[in-house]
Amino acid sequence: METSTKNLKIEKAKTSKIDQVDFDNLAFGSVFTDHMLVCKYQNGAWELPKIVPYQPINLDPSAKIFHYGQSIFEGMKAYKDENDDVWLFRPFDNHKRLNISAKRMAIPELPEEYFIDGLTALLELDKKWIPKTAGSSLYIRPFVFASGNGLHASPADAYTFIVICAPSAAYFSGKVKVLIEETYSRSANGGVGYAKAGGNYAGQFYPTQLAIEKGYNQVIWTDDNTHEYIEEAGAMNIFVRINDSLITGPTSDRILDGITRKSILEIAKDKGIAVEVRKITVSEVVEAAKNGSLKEMFGAGTAAVVSPIATFGYRGTDYDLPEIPNSYAAMLKKRITDIQYNRDQDKFGWRFKV
Ligand code: PLP
Ligand code: COI
Repeated sequence: METSTKNLKIEKAKTSKIDQVDFDNLAFGSVFTDHMLVCKYQNGAWELPKIVPYQPINLDPSAKIFHYGQSIFEGMKAYKDENDDVWLFRPFDNHKRLNISAKRMAIPELPEEYFIDGLTALLELDKKWIPKTAGSSLYIRPFVFASGNGLHASPADAYTFIVICAPSAAYFSGKVKVLIEETYSRSANGGVGYAKAGGNYAGQFYPTQLAIEKGYNQVIWTDDNTHEYIEEAGAMNIFVRINDSLITGPTSDRILDGITRKSILEIAKDKGIAVEVRKITVSEVVEAAKNGSLKEMFGAGTAAVVSPIATFGYRGTDYDLPEIPNSYAAMLKKRITDIQYNRDQDKFGWRFKV
């Protein structure tokens, strides 16, 4: 397949919206840069990507995305260092995962060059939008959806890949309080939990709303079969520290193979921390909370980075996790963000210069 991006077309925005943005008070994913990348799949092939001004999408009401939910996405960030150089973090892994999700959702896989070169060209054009305020970055949202028409319940014949970018602050502000969920499930064996499919998130909204009404921020999902094992949070993988061991569940077809998760595992091992990738039971976490051996619990993900969990709720009881000195969460967050923002050496080779 011809996948050269040499002739990528760029249509520049006539005016920039950047002056309307308050970079000192950014939220997460609510203002968008001047341009977006668009690439269409038609007649059995991906066409050359284009960069166009950020704009609404025109779709037929019968487009299959509206009816059958064929849609996948990725979450990435661009970081600006003090010399104004721009960096991505393990972008090839996002491309690989987009194609893993694509395959599961019967969406055609996207060529690597279109993803990487398209994204690089977009970031070069909208470079001014990458914030330098502490903790902020440019959140990047690549997504693919079924833009082909027709009500037949089968894969569409046309797809659209788009990348939009939002200067953003951290996903969570303040303390994170989570509820261990035992009624609803996020995913099941043989399902689509490992894919970043839009519907996985829609299915979480209702149980998460119920948790929010009870005063929690997010749900901790347990396995759908027994609800005995802790699996992940709505937008994060989960780590627990019992005594000095850092533990996270193994990935499976129910769990998203997070890039932050696998990076944290490597950093922790490199720092000499005892790391265990194994199933974690709810009862051992509750027991450890009761006997004081549960030192930390945190979520990890691109948007959330490393988010310490201050409280978890289980069967009507809240268990608090007081802040501790020299926490793994603080050390791991510093180490991963130092690599991402080019503040420290990157012995793993994860940084990618735009
Ligand atoms: N788990 C879920 C369900 C997610 O949506 C995310 C966010 O992308 C993650 C885990 C973390 O993955 P990553 O570190 O690749 O962003
Ligand atoms: C990310 O961390 O990039 C995600 O995709 C989470 C998202 C649901 C906000």
